[in-house]
Amino acid sequence: MRAVCPGSFDPITHGHLDVIRRAGALFDEVVVAVGRNSAKNYLFDTDERVELVRAAVGEQPRVRVEVLSGLLVDFCREQGADVVVKGLRFASDFDFELQMAHINHSLTGLETVLLPASAQWGTLSSTMVREVASLGGDVRAFVPPLVAERIAQKRSPHHG
Ligand code: PNS
Repeated sequence: MRAVCPGSFDPITHGHLDVIRRAGALFDEVVVAVGRNSAKNYLFDTDERVELVRAAVGEQPRVRVEVLSGLLVDFCREQGADVVVKGLRFASDFDFELQMAHINHSLTGLETVLLPASAQWGTLSSTMVREVASLGGDVRAFVPPLVAERIAQKRSPHHG
């Protein structure tokens, strides 16, 4: 069975990578879908987010990274995927994910599997990573090295 792991990935964190890895253990194939939530302002544009997700995921025979534009249900249909996998951290995630799962199921019957985030990354968020980075903090514990590097470059573009 083919699963889609959708998200903004702004930027991808160890928490996302953990969910992607575990989805890979549950399903035959995983398509990581880099999308856009119209309610959000992004640090990295879509091309940058895709590039960083591809680099972070690396070469894995059963995992691909694609751009998600338009509706998630349409993307899943095009990709031949019947299920979406999303990580779940705390109660506030649940309310939002439940709403999305319901609307996606009513649209095309697309199923959603909610994976509890592992304890280590249970409360990590890209928003917190961006906040810490924007105030000069060290985010290397939370994101892959390339992502930490690229965030640092965003902060001081003159230094490379
Ligand atoms: O990491 P995020 O911000 O929670 O990811 C959200 C994303 C991109 C997965 C979500 O906004 C999405 O599925 N966008 C595609 C449009 C869509 O189908 N929305 C759900 C029905 S309202």
